[in-house]
Amino acid sequence: MISYLIIALSAISVFFLLNKFRCFNVKAHHHLPPGPPGLPVIGNLHQLDMTSNLSDHLWRLSIHYGPLMSLRLGHVQSVVVSSAEMAKQVLKTNDLVFCSRPLLTGQQKLSYGNKDIAFSPYDDYWRETRKTCTLHLFSMKQVNAFRPVREEEVFDMIDSIKTRFANKNAVNLSELLMILTSNIICRVAFGKRSSSDYNDEKQRIKRLLLQCQAMFACFFYRDHFPFMGWLDILNGSMGRLEKNFKDLDEFYQELIDEHLHSNKPNNMQEDMVDILLKLKESDSTVELTYDHIKAVLMNILLGGTETSATTVVWVMTLLMKNPESLKKVQHEVRSEIGNKGRVHEDDLYKLKYLKAVIKETYRLHPIAPLLVPRESRERCVLGGYEMPKKTIVHVNAWAIGRDPECWERPEVFEPERFMGSSIDYKGNDYELIPFGSGRRGCPGMSLGATTVELALSNLVYSFDWELLEGMSDIDSLTTPGTIARKKNDLRLVAKVYNHGCRMSSS
Ligand code: HEM
Repeated sequence: MISYLIIALSAISVFFLLNKFRCFNVKAHHHLPPGPPGLPVIGNLHQLDMTSNLSDHLWRLSIHYGPLMSLRLGHVQSVVVSSAEMAKQVLKTNDLVFCSRPLLTGQQKLSYGNKDIAFSPYDDYWRETRKTCTLHLFSMKQVNAFRPVREEEVFDMIDSIKTRFANKNAVNLSELLMILTSNIICRVAFGKRSSSDYNDEKQRIKRLLLQCQAMFACFFYRDHFPFMGWLDILNGSMGRLEKNFKDLDEFYQELIDEHLHSNKPNNMQEDMVDILLKLKESDSTVELTYDHIKAVLMNILLGGTETSATTVVWVMTLLMKNPESLKKVQHEVRSEIGNKGRVHEDDLYKLKYLKAVIKETYRLHPIAPLLVPRESRERCVLGGYEMPKKTIVHVNAWAIGRDPECWERPEVFEPERFMGSSIDYKGNDYELIPFGSGRRGCPGMSLGATTVELALSNLVYSFDWELLEGMSDIDSLTTPGTIARKKNDLRLVAKVYNHGCRMSSS
């Protein structure tokens, strides 16, 4: 009976798909950029290996097809941008056209029907929410207010490496850095401090985060073939999404309840949930409901943890592969900081070479190598080609960082290229866009970049780092998905560096 049902449904789907295919021929009248030839109905989907490094694969295709490359993924028309000039056209010149986001099943569900900042399409609600959150959650004032939390957590991590691992056991830096950034986010965003059941809570957050990322990376048929959504039900994807949504919703609701019923003294620092709850009660232009707050919390949880941790893992990987640069950055940090014992945030401005090392890492290993996809709000001409409304645009920051038109010896790790150069990652230099740019550029950039600089400077200041015994190199394999993590954990030996100093704990 079930197989008859599936056959009948398939036949109906194919009928609709063929109808849809006729629409593609209509679309073919648009003068689209070149791209690899696709198959009827599925387009180029079969050519994309979602289990590999997709940005690298797209970069190699773009060398053949050019910096604007068409791809058809089922019924979705996409374009991949692989040069700084084309990225500028999309993110600056035509930002208002390309500043929407596609409506994808996982993102829509986990953002409570587009009530967040990261995945909502461009509209009045998104504009107001983003403005409000930028002002109240991500401003420099807020970043500075959370400075004591960042310093305390980074210094705790350094102390724990000294006591638990130094000179003997391998330090799993990938794991420690994830713990660091989730501790920071738990404190600044959720107001959670260490307690007896804090470890269970951390495990829970880690699990939720992994589930959430899996849902964002999950292939939903309905996103590419509107009439085949029933396959998502049959293969269990919709069930997993519902379950993940329910688990996350329970977590946010508990957080909100704890904050509503807390007897926190008035003079205690507000966390992000406090700020959002206060905004809900205020006469702000945007009317926040609990669903809006939960959707924004999802962005903070996702945006705030893995991005900074993964960046530091890549910096340390590249430094271990380039020992001369490691020595140079250690020399800079140790001579600037002397025997103070810790690098504090107000020391960071002195560390010019360290900043160059981080920029070079952003160039070679942008954490979101294809940024977050955008969708055009109207028809637009780009590089002489015509993009229909609702074209999905992937900006390949990975490819741009390796473009010989922008970079000399692009394959070489050479932080010196940034010394004395005005190129920065803040979104105005399109050859280096790890945080994106324009209206949808990352609002958490200052928060993320400061955490990266503080953690890295203390790691290279406090320890000499060595490969594990018997190891001659470290691999650079990345995981598939939106975030390009290092596939294998980074494990190193840490030797405590003696500054001949007093240790300060503040
Ligand atoms: C090293 C750290 C980080 C990196 C590399 C990074 C990277 C990015 C990138 C590439 C985008 C997409 C930009 C675009 O489409 O043009 C983005 C968006 C976003 N990021 Fe970050 N991010 C980091 C840290 C953070 C932090 C700490 C937060 C918040 C706590 C955050 C929250 C967001 C949000 C809400 C968006 C969506 C913006 C929108 O669509 O309007 N990010 N980030």
